[in-house]
Amino acid sequence: MRDAMSAAPVGDDVFGDDPTVNELQHRVAALLGKAAALYVPSGTMANQLALRCQTQHGDEVILHAKSHIYNYESAGAAALSGVQARPLDSSDGALDPAAIIAAVHDGADPHLAPTRLVCTENTHNGCGGVVVPAQNAAAIGAVARPRGLRMHLDGARLFNAAVASGSAPSALAAEFDTVSVCFSKGLGAPIGSVLAGDAVALSRAHRFRKMFGGGMRQAGVVAAAALFALDHNVQRLADDHRRARTLADELAALPDVQPHYGPASTNLVYFSLSPGHPLAEPDDRGAPRLVARLAARGVLITGSPSRLRAVTHLDVDDDALGHAVAAFRAELGGVGG
Ligand SMILES: Cc1ncc(COP(=O)(O)O)c(C=O)c1O
Repeated sequence: MRDAMSAAPVGDDVFGDDPTVNELQHRVAALLGKAAALYVPSGTMANQLALRCQTQHGDEVILHAKSHIYNYESAGAAALSGVQARPLDSSDGALDPAAIIAAVHDGADPHLAPTRLVCTENTHNGCGGVVVPAQNAAAIGAVARPRGLRMHLDGARLFNAAVASGSAPSALAAEFDTVSVCFSKGLGAPIGSVLAGDAVALSRAHRFRKMFGGGMRQAGVVAAAALFALDHNVQRLADDHRRARTLADELAALPDVQPHYGPASTNLVYFSLSPGHPLAEPDDRGAPRLVARLAARGVLITGSPSRLRAVTHLDVDDDALGHAVAAFRAELGGVGG
């Protein structure tokens, strides 16, 4: 990947002149079955552009209560697009079409914010890195389209969903007007996301990318990493899923550990410790004590006292997984601890 980056032909992407960025945008648009695509620095920017280019201030956006857009983008929907979020919850990442129908405001009543956009997420991080079946998108589309709503998919981990489900990325993206994908997560690039969609939305997104400060110059250096990832790092996501499943099974065998990993899970292993477990107690940085204990053994995880998260990715091979399992056993009192 580093070699590909250093060899990349570049130009000024703010003027649309970077051949590597242009190649990436064309490839991702084709891969997702969309007319246009735009390279941006982060998944957050891709999502925020999707909101900004498809709504007006005072509109309402339906999204998942545990979604990244609603919880982890620093109130960007309110601050940058001036929209009101209408969160709907579920435990499996799917949105209930009946709940969408009940939540939609058509704009006739001046008390109510008109609903403009529905956002979904796949895989769904907050619900455990689970694949949300394409049928849910179709069911949402069936109620959203007749009501004039647009649809955005936060596909930060869409390639995980595609590999795990055996569906083409374009099939998972088919219902949506705009789709964001990230190259900096399981695909292993140092930076970069793409927003894809129809030409009108993407031309507005292009303008807002400039406004939000996301126009980059010789960005081909980093876009080359994303192209390399598309060529080399997509199918291998299945290895991450296999290792995550192994890790979840190993955690389930430890006392006081409850992994939340089901058949639809992919590369994110969420787990909790039994209430009152001493390693679930927060340290002076607010993280469960287990986090620093594992870090001292060379295993990096994140989490809150109620829920921890381990992620498998392309830098975790079978040996590294074995090392991680041994560290978990040593800290949590399993065999070999
Ligand atoms: C589902 C989802 N969407 C969007 C993002 C944002 O990506 P970035 O960190 O590149 O802004 C993340 C980051 O973890 C995510 O999990």
